[in-house]
Amino acid sequence: MDQVFILHGPNLNLLGKREPAIYGSLALDEINTRLTAFGTGLDFEIVTYQSNHEGDLVDQLHEAGETAAGVVMNAAAFTHTSVAIRDAITAIEPPVIEVHLSNVHAREPFRHHSWIAPVCVGSISGFGWRSYMLALQALSEIIRDKRS
Ligand code: DQA
Repeated sequence: MDQVFILHGPNLNLLGKREPAIYGSLALDEINTRLTAFGTGLDFEIVTYQSNHEGDLVDQLHEAGETAAGVVMNAAAFTHTSVAIRDAITAIEPPVIEVHLSNVHAREPFRHHSWIAPVCVGSISGFGWRSYMLALQALSEIIRDKRS
């Protein structure tokens, strides 16, 4: 069974309580439960991970590089600041899809730039927790295409 890492960056542990008008009312645990069910239906073994620390997310990308068929990543604020996360994405083989709950392009200008977008397969933004679901769907097709 293909393993897929779902990585959540800083402050996403507060989902449900944090600016619900922007990020929705679901807690991270509930989102992970839904994504695990959806991913299982796609024949993925889902590994979820959240950290507020940049280096931990870099470490998880390295681990994904060893074991995973793909990665779904919401780097949160690190999207707009982190060359280290970008470099970790380019250092690993599995495809990485960038996701955001909110539509970052409809928000403050500093959210319009992503360091990671150019090195990800693609980006999905603005569909709330379903952004991750759409990314899992896309990954399943990308992985299938690679094998055919
Ligand atoms: C976010 C958007 C980022 O700009 C922000 O810093 C976040 C969450 C999103 O999912 O919409 O923390 O990645």
